[in-house]
Amino acid sequence: ASAAVPDQQVGVGGELHQVSGGAHPQMTNQRGLVVGDDENSLKANPRGPVLIEDHFLVEKTQHFDHERIPERVVHARGFGAKGYFQLTDSLKGITKARVLTQLGVKIPLFTRFSTVAGNMGSADTARDVRGFAVKMYTDEGNWDIVGNNIPVFFIQDAIKFTDLIHAAKQEPDRGFPQAQTAHDTFWDFVSLVPESTHMLMWIMSDRAIPRSFRMMEGFGVHTFRLINEAGDSTYVKFHWRPKLGMASVIWDEALKISGADPDFHRRDLWNAIAEGNFPEWELGVQLFDEDFANKFEFDVLDATKLIPEETLPLRIIGKMVLDQNVDNYFAETEQVAFATTDVVPGIDFSNDPLLQGRNLSYIDTQLSRLGGPNYEQIPVNAPRCPMRNMQRDGHMTMIPQLGRVSYSPSSLESDTPRQDPANGFSSFHAAEQGDKLRIRPESFADHFSQALMFFNSQTETEQNHIVSAFIFELSKVDTKAIRERMVGQLANVSSTIAQRVAEGLGMLGPIKPTATTVAARTDLPPSDALSIAKK
Ligand code: HEM
Repeated sequence: ASAAVPDQQVGVGGELHQVSGGAHPQMTNQRGLVVGDDENSLKANPRGPVLIEDHFLVEKTQHFDHERIPERVVHARGFGAKGYFQLTDSLKGITKARVLTQLGVKIPLFTRFSTVAGNMGSADTARDVRGFAVKMYTDEGNWDIVGNNIPVFFIQDAIKFTDLIHAAKQEPDRGFPQAQTAHDTFWDFVSLVPESTHMLMWIMSDRAIPRSFRMMEGFGVHTFRLINEAGDSTYVKFHWRPKLGMASVIWDEALKISGADPDFHRRDLWNAIAEGNFPEWELGVQLFDEDFANKFEFDVLDATKLIPEETLPLRIIGKMVLDQNVDNYFAETEQVAFATTDVVPGIDFSNDPLLQGRNLSYIDTQLSRLGGPNYEQIPVNAPRCPMRNMQRDGHMTMIPQLGRVSYSPSSLESDTPRQDPANGFSSFHAAEQGDKLRIRPESFADHFSQALMFFNSQTETEQNHIVSAFIFELSKVDTKAIRERMVGQLANVSSTIAQRVAEGLGMLGPIKPTATTVAARTDLPPSDALSIAKK
């Protein structure tokens, strides 16, 4: 046998052991020392105690002990792939961003799809929003569109994000449910927060149980700005449109698949790419100016609203193709770090208060998730253009910043990096003035019109799915008052929808729309009324 398999040798007692040889390189420890025996620890005698001197055993075990890092606080369960973006219609004159003006160039990118609420080990087909995050390695730095597969969000102000997620994740005392919307804390929160109603329509719809990552739309959600050479701003919303069209599973299928194959979506994406069926999306933009924005009853800075495509059609400007699976899940998919602040010159933020909160959160969370300030040096995060500055040191420094000078201004060296006012990033010169206040503008007040608009845009079958989903999810809520408050919230959208859900839940008696204004809330204790008035 040993002649036929030259990379094996016979050990004590006649057992076969695999050894290096042929195409198999020598195994080393983390320090490069060639390992002579990877199967037996060092002992004082064959049956004796293991010696602490066995640095091979210690190193191997210690490395294993530290294999895990914290999972993402949201979007923990995700799956990534590599590919490219190619511009087909230049936005020259509207933005100076090279990625949006240079036709035909293939920009490498990394995309990660995810569920939001479930932990890392939850099922792919849970009813949930899907993250749709794209990192493009442009020659002006990384540009991330950190989006979702639903064009609106639950809340308007980032200060409520912690509460939303605490309500949606597993309940802290019992540690479950892991990945379902069907629990009291979630419905308690959203039934008390009427701005979430539009988003609830979407997550009770088939959009929240996609057939495949390859068959999902993606949305940047917020209004961003594009800035041209003259410094003029145009508002923009980003949309990804799947070439395969959109498809969902139905709820019964989702439940069965969750049990039979919790990896359904990741297996589907991996196999498609491995077989050469590269998924593709178009990048579309909605472009508009301040005057156009002012014509709407709602506010384009409110992330619970969308601009209907009938009113403002998409302009398709490019495509994304995912043509390569990752080489290593942990190194790439787990360590990739997206941030809404990853923008390039020519792309800027709007005053959307949810976006502004996100701009703080991503880098902050990655500092702890990825172990310190140098996670941008991890290959999946590192920019593919020169990166030079005066930042130094810290855990896991990989890229040596050369020279004696680590401050600016300086005069000792002729090649220190310096700021570039003409070509560097500069913020849009927005004229801001007013009083410093904690307040929600009146233009953010209508929480129900677009919820109804979305429901009405669905086919009858899809509408039935939404109603069934509300009934299913609310039937899992133990607290009667929460169920009633939620049905009352639906009555603010449409008495018919509310009636259908109430019937499905076996609720008797007339439905009282849940009050949403301070005036209507005289029933509440004064402390509650006060907190609403403060908005
Ligand atoms: C991930 C915060 C709203 C899309 C995350 C993470 C945090 C976070 C802390 C984990 C990041 C990591 O560990 O690497 C927030 C805050 C929000 C907010 C504070 C609101 C105030 C949104 C919205 C969207 C979104 C509105 C969609 C437009 C995503 C995506 C990921 C993510 C796609 C996963 C990124 C990945 O695949 O690694 N968010 N988020 N988030 N968020 Fe948000």
